[in-house]
Amino acid sequence: MIVGVCKETKQNEKRVALTPEGTEKLLSLGFDITVESGAGAHSSYTDQSYEEAGAAIEQNREELLKKCDLLLAVQAPDEKTINSMKSGAVLISFIWPLQNSDYVEHLKKQNITALAMDTIPRISRAQTMDALSTMSNIAGYKAALLGANQLDKYMPMMMTAAGTIPPAKVLVLGAGVAGLQAIATAKRLGAVVEAFDIRPVVKEQVESLGATFVEVPIEEEETESKGGYAKELTERNKQKQREVIHQHVKKSDIVITTALIPGKPAPLLVTKAMVEDMAPGSVVVDIAAEQGGNCEVTKPGKTSDHRGVSIVAPLNIPSLLAFHASKLYSKNILSLLNLLVDDGQLTFDFEDDIILNATVTHNGDIVSPFVKDNS
Ligand code: NAI
Repeated sequence: MIVGVCKETKQNEKRVALTPEGTEKLLSLGFDITVESGAGAHSSYTDQSYEEAGAAIEQNREELLKKCDLLLAVQAPDEKTINSMKSGAVLISFIWPLQNSDYVEHLKKQNITALAMDTIPRISRAQTMDALSTMSNIAGYKAALLGANQLDKYMPMMMTAAGTIPPAKVLVLGAGVAGLQAIATAKRLGAVVEAFDIRPVVKEQVESLGATFVEVPIEEEETESKGGYAKELTERNKQKQREVIHQHVKKSDIVITTALIPGKPAPLLVTKAMVEDMAPGSVVVDIAAEQGGNCEVTKPGKTSDHRGVSIVAPLNIPSLLAFHASKLYSKNILSLLNLLVDDGQLTFDFEDDIILNATVTHNGDIVSPFVKDNS
């Protein structure tokens, strides 16, 4: 079996799907590996390091696509790439099938077996292959650093001969994987941190990181779905939440927003009026920008100024840490492959919940119940 690793083509995508370290591990599973020349260049993995690990380097992308049985990628490869693949070949990448139904149809038409890293169920057994958590963790870490960097104040308390500076106040909205890492990072930088999430179960996790949980009295509503994700609030509860959050936003130096609801636009948590109540020089870091943002004045992909408050809303944050994002993603992929490979061959045991849910298309059909039930 030939495994291909292609160069990412999406703008600002610096990650690569397999590192030289991953190459060595995959070779030991009995595969041949071909890497498109320059695939790791933006994440500091050279062609030479892949060659030393035992991969072949291919200059011609079309040649690579024509011959590989399994293609590894970070972003879903464009349709031109899919058209160049062999019928029956396997693709593993992020796909976001619910948001890209035309793309899924194309995969079906081209008879590609596509496994989506983003539909692997969030269960304990799948933790080592959970690329969503890998990337959220990076995004949360980087969000705290971006906020600190944009702020014209110290983060920790500083006792100097010229006087004492109080620590910065950071508010984190949404305490999933990214939010918890943003809390931990802001704490390590010395800030005083508060956090809020609509799922009450995270209170304990927030407190265990040394942050204060902001209590919002939410009326008679289940805020968590069966899968452990957040549900959209009723209008009345949204209003209640905004009233409480407003009081905390206005006294914060940095507000980091990370709230998402699967399959829906990001919920609006920080209104224009709240931003206008923040002190000049304060910062909002909105890492939900890719899904429209949690802040009303967010401009996705830009750092903007709203009446003296900086709104930082980068896209594809994990790509800013391309070396480690690639290293961990490569490990996530290897972990999935360990489950799929039997005797040097890929086997699709749909009795296995992980394989079943991750397999978006196979033999021209949609397989994943997650995709079938939600599209
Ligand atoms: P996410 O990225 O979908 O959402 C981020 C956070 O925003 C969530 O904590 C969510 O509750 C919160 N949120 C949504 N609407 C909000 C609102 N209006 N106000 C405030 N906060 C709001 O979440 P993530 O990080 O992907 O985690 C989702 C679930 O998956 C969690 O229950 C997590 O514990 C679980 N999980 C399980 C793993 C496992 O292996 N068992 C691994 C990783 C996550």
